Amino acid sequence: MNDSSTSGELADRLRTLLSRLSPGDRLPSSRELIKEYRVGPATVARAIAALAAEGAVVTRPGSGTYVAQRTRHHDEAAADTDWQTVALTDRAVDTHLMAEPLGPPPAGTITMDSGYVHRSLQPTRALSAALARAARRPDAWDRAPAGGVMALRTVFARIVGGSVAPEDVLVTAGGQSALSIAFRAIAGPGSPVLVESPTYPRALAAVRAAGLRPVPVPLDADGLRPDMLADAFAMTGARLLYCQPTYQNPTGTVLTVERRRQILDVARASGAFVVEDDFARHLGHGGPVPRPLVADDRDGAVVHVTSLTKPAAPSLRIGALVARGPVMERMRAVRLVDDFFVTRPLQEAALEVLSSPSWDRHVRSLGTALRERCAVLAAALTQELPGATVTGLPTGGLHLWLRLPPGVDDTVLTAAARQRGVAVSAGSRYFATEPPAAHLRIGFAATADHTELTEGVRRLGAALTDLAPKQG
Ligand SMILES: Cc1ncc(COP(=O)(O)O)c(C=O)c1O
Repeated sequence: MNDSSTSGELADRLRTLLSRLSPGDRLPSSRELIKEYRVGPATVARAIAALAAEGAVVTRPGSGTYVAQRTRHHDEAAADTDWQTVALTDRAVDTHLMAEPLGPPPAGTITMDSGYVHRSLQPTRALSAALARAARRPDAWDRAPAGGVMALRTVFARIVGGSVAPEDVLVTAGGQSALSIAFRAIAGPGSPVLVESPTYPRALAAVRAAGLRPVPVPLDADGLRPDMLADAFAMTGARLLYCQPTYQNPTGTVLTVERRRQILDVARASGAFVVEDDFARHLGHGGPVPRPLVADDRDGAVVHVTSLTKPAAPSLRIGALVARGPVMERMRAVRLVDDFFVTRPLQEAALEVLSSPSWDRHVRSLGTALRERCAVLAAALTQELPGATVTGLPTGGLHLWLRLPPGVDDTVLTAAARQRGVAVSAGSRYFATEPPAAHLRIGFAATADHTELTEGVRRLGAALTDLAPKQG
């Protein structure tokens, strides 16, 4: 095998090797594989990542790669499910964008690819107490109102501000569910949807699952570009824009006050809805958090999405849609078709946590912790990956957006980083079409502490060095 051999070929040859080994056996080291198969480190990293993703091997950072224990599924004669390929026809849900591309990380991996905060930053004690109390209420297991528990809708309306009323709020099972409901309610199959570029991959997946077609519109340091937006509406005839004006995922940008007005004006002039994903409202790093677009929306153009999973905990799956007019009727109908209503005890627990004076304290201390972690991460990146560029220090959110040095492939580096024991997200997942440059999204909220954060960056730097002979 020579240097130009693909990682797919190497993975095939390693599968043959695996068939001769027993579960728990150690594979040859990366160095040995490079030598034996005469390939580069990136090819080895990609091949091992593919085998890990299919569950054939497990990698233990600092120790090596081992043959996975065979599951019952592997031992039994495999069922013939080929008929499903014919029955399923076209792909309705983009599994690529929904799944973690490299599978679950091996034990010991430092998590810098998560969209949630570490358990030590979650108000777990308050949540547990609130849920226990909610479960003891006499009406705990009754049906909940389809729009959500009224007191919770009232709190969401108050948080949004402006003239939003509790009746304009629909409680959902988190932000992802809210996005999926909104896209299906607003646009019909085949319609274009304008999206920021880059954007949240699972919003792209929800757009595609609704049969819609994402059309990217560029961002700069001030957020979505209104001039490009006007062109995109004119060219595509789209009636829907999906955007995150505040602490955008992945770039962390905040849409300026001036542009907020312009974007609403452009959308109104195009007769289009704006789905405002305000997932990060409670993730500010201590400065003022801008008003949501919906608070200044006079005529029902904005459909606002919010969620509690980020500032509280991933399993507090409570979010909300805020909108006015017939679009709200449609979204309520979709909600009912999906699953009637959100589990009542969870709504009651969310209500108690949100209404308690300790919630504001929690949000403030979370903001301080995020700001500190963000600074630690940025400093560590500057030191360990001097050729890469942090594209801007965010004032809120959970991630940094890092532009990679020329010639470095983000998916190859992500796979190599896994080998080194750190999980980061490849930037190409965040683009609806061809990425203009290679990036990584690096999270600073899911690690245990600052030490783990800097160790994660050290491992990432080592992974980049591993690739140097191959990628320059
Ligand atoms: C931009 C954005 N919107 C929405 C969500 C959905 O989050 P959840 O469903 O946990 O509320 C996420 C989660 O990562 C996100 O990053």
